[in-house]
Amino acid sequence: NWNMKNFIEDQIALVRKQVGDKKVLLALSGGVDSSVVAALLIKAIGKQLVCVHVNHGLMRKNESEGVIAMFEKDLEENLIYVDASERFLGKLKGVSEPEEKRKIIGNEFIRVFEEEARKLEGIDFLAQGTIYPDIVESGTKTHKVVKSHHNVGGLPEDLQFELVEPLFQLFKDEVRACGVELGLPHDMVYRQPFPGPGLGVRCLGEIEIDRLEAVRESDAILREEFALAGLDQKVWQYFTVVPNFKSVGVRNNERTYEYPVIIRAVNTVDAMTATVEQIDWPILLKITDRIINEVKNVNRVCYDLSPKPGGTIEWE
Ligand code: XMP
Repeated sequence: NWNMKNFIEDQIALVRKQVGDKKVLLALSGGVDSSVVAALLIKAIGKQLVCVHVNHGLMRKNESEGVIAMFEKDLEENLIYVDASERFLGKLKGVSEPEEKRKIIGNEFIRVFEEEARKLEGIDFLAQGTIYPDIVESGTKTHKVVKSHHNVGGLPEDLQFELVEPLFQLFKDEVRACGVELGLPHDMVYRQPFPGPGLGVRCLGEIEIDRLEAVRESDAILREEFALAGLDQKVWQYFTVVPNFKSVGVRNNERTYEYPVIIRAVNTVDAMTATVEQIDWPILLKITDRIINEVKNVNRVCYDLSPKPGGTIEWE
């Protein structure tokens, strides 16, 4: 009979059979899927797994540190951390069109990963956190699926690996259950979705460092306050956005000219439609107060009331 314990045992046996004593490379974004793959492969093949974590500079506050902390004990020198923040921000300079920003982030991710893969020797396999909906959505039953830039489908011909995709039969809730069974922290496994291009989509228009920092800091405050209020267990997705315009405000009797922060908090089943969470005023007011006082270059906070359709979940 099918249960998660048996599934994990079966996958461990299958992976061992597939890779033998060869090495497996994994792009570890820190999202649920790649983290569960990492945990499973550590169980199956230990140090035959090499993980590369690319920080594109668009991660949430302390996110890369969290990924490293979660896996460094098991992987030690097999966990490679690449801080590519400057490189990504350089490439994104002057670019304001949302689709173009996405393309640049996706391409650059593949290039950075490719460079790291070339430095390594004796790797025959590439693990991916492909899950069942990725295959279905792609409309094919092949495994060459590119879900987002976290799946490294754009590698050049001379750098091709055989794929290891132990989660390809699972739906998202099963991936989470698998993660729990493998001993990953509950918070990690049940985290809200986060787009591959990261905070880059929430810093509207050209990515400028002062606004990117405002997105990152306000997002950290929002998540902290949501956790305190228990809303992190209730709301499907919540984040902040910083648009590329300023308006007049006042602080210490002086005129300011700074950015607004927009809070978004929505509930959905499948992300195709969404409704706004009706947050209690005292919670919203506390978050507003903290953002205005703690986040640099910000003088207003707004709450987005739009459903999807109407708006999308993300602003871009
Ligand atoms: P929208 O904004 O289209 O977003 O209503 C729907 C959901 O998709 C998430 N999203 C992404 N997820 N890679 C992902 O894995 C991406 O590039 C990406 N872009 C958006 C978004 O956060 C929302 O949950």
